[in-house]
Amino acid sequence: MSSIEVRHATPEDLPAILDIYNEVIANSTAVYSVAPTTLEERLAWLEARTREGYPVIVAIGEDGVVGFASFGQFRGAWVGYRYSVEHSVHVRSDERGKGIGTRLVQELLPLARAMGKHVMIGGIDASNQGSIRMHERLGFERVATMPEVGRKFGRWLDLVFMQRFLDESGAPRED
Ligand SMILES: CC(C)(COP(=O)(O)OP(=O)(O)OC[C@H]1O[C@@H](n2cnc3c(N)ncnc32)[C@H](O)[C@@H]1OP(=O)(O)O)[C@@H](O)C(=O)NCCC(=O)NCCS
Repeated sequence: MSSIEVRHATPEDLPAILDIYNEVIANSTAVYSVAPTTLEERLAWLEARTREGYPVIVAIGEDGVVGFASFGQFRGAWVGYRYSVEHSVHVRSDERGKGIGTRLVQELLPLARAMGKHVMIGGIDASNQGSIRMHERLGFERVATMPEVGRKFGRWLDLVFMQRFLDESGAPRED
C-alpha cells in the first residue's frame, strides 16, 4: 500500500464518499439498498454521527478519498445495547485488495474502545467473501447467519453477523 493518511471526515469529503457508496449500491450486495443515495442524505448521516459522538473516518490516497468507515449504535435506541456498536467500511473499487479496508477497521477499534464500547459488530452479506475474510483476519468471529433476510437483484440474501470484543469477554461495566 502506498502512503495512506486516515483522518476524520469533513463535509468536503462527502462527494467522494457518495461516489464510493453509490458504486457499492449499484454493483454489489454489500449494501442492501437499490437506489443511489444523495449528497443530502450523506450530509445528514455525517451530521447525525457527529451529533451522537460517533466517528466517520476517511482514508486519503494520492488522489483523494479512497475509502471510509464509521460506527454507530447497534439496533438503534435500545439502551441495553449501549456498549455495542455496528460498523461499516467501504473502499473505492480501484483501491480494493491493498490493505485499506483493514487499516480503516484497525483505526476504528481504538476509537470505539475510547468510548467505552465492549463489542463491535459487522453485518455482512454472506456472499461477500472478501469482507468476511478481512474481518476474520481482524479478529472478528462469525457469530450468526440469517438466511434470506435480504433481497436484491432478484434473489434472497443471507446476512452474516461478525463481532469482536474491544476488551475482554465479560468485562465489568456500570449498569
Ligand atoms: C470489503 C472491503 C471493505 C475490504 O477492503 P479492502 O481494502 O479491499 O481489503 P484489504 O486489502 O484490507 O484485504 C482484506 C482481504 O480482503 C480480500 N479482498 C476483498 N476484496 C478484494 C479485491 N477486490 N481484491 C483483492 N482482495 C480482496 C482479500 O482476500 C484480503 O485478504 P488477504 O489479504 O488475506 O488476501 C472492500 O473490498 C470493499 O469496499 N468492498 C466493496 C464494499 C464492501 O463489501 N464493503 C464491506 C461491507 S461489509
